[in-house]
Amino acid sequence: MNSIDICYSPELIGLYSLKEKIVVVVDILRATSCITTGIAHGVKSITPFESLEACIAMKEKGYYIAGERGGQKVEGFDIGNSPFSYMEEYLIGEKIAITTTNGTVAIEKSKEASKIVIGSFLNISAIASYLIRQKSDVLFFCAGWKGRISLEDTLFAGALTNMLESDFDFDDDSVMMAHSLYVKEENNILKTIQNSSHAKRLKKFDVTKDIEFCLTRDKYNVVPIVIGDEIVAF
Ligand code: MLT
Repeated sequence: MNSIDICYSPELIGLYSLKEKIVVVVDILRATSCITTGIAHGVKSITPFESLEACIAMKEKGYYIAGERGGQKVEGFDIGNSPFSYMEEYLIGEKIAITTTNGTVAIEKSKEASKIVIGSFLNISAIASYLIRQKSDVLFFCAGWKGRISLEDTLFAGALTNMLESDFDFDDDSVMMAHSLYVKEENNILKTIQNSSHAKRLKKFDVTKDIEFCLTRDKYNVVPIVIGDEIVAF
């Protein structure tokens, strides 16, 4: 059987071998939820950047530029980091360049993986079925917050593990921790995440509806995958 492993922070990724693994990048609040939403609503591609300057440079190449720092839209950018702004009709068929505090950092740090897919509660079943079909070891890579662990990414990793437990082996503490936490909080996810550090951080930006939306399960049947430098629909 193939195995599941979990990396809780970009600071820890050096401890894992990514070669021949599928990496599922997770930043529930809100980068990977935004990317999933954009791809599901017909955005042609989303190109992630760790650096603000590299992202801004894409504007000249005809890209819409999206992103946040510290949870707030970057001044002068076309799009911030709310999933609702990725549903706009003018974005259908267009290319977006995105930079965020943690989510795009995790994507950039996954480059050695055999495949990189973008996970969120919005497409959790699509990701689970995709992973079952691939027959590969997988690593859930939680973006966290500036090197720290985050509750929402951990709960997602536990939820996905729960869906895969009869198809994959897992015995590492990292996976058992996320799985046990999810089983304990399964019926209380919204309330638990409303108390998380990042939800508190975002409160001052009045994004309650973003948080509720990002925790919606299976809104979209899409697997965003990194091909070359771009994230596209699988
Ligand atoms: C990130 O990538 O750090 C997050 O998506 C931040 C946010 O919630 O805007």
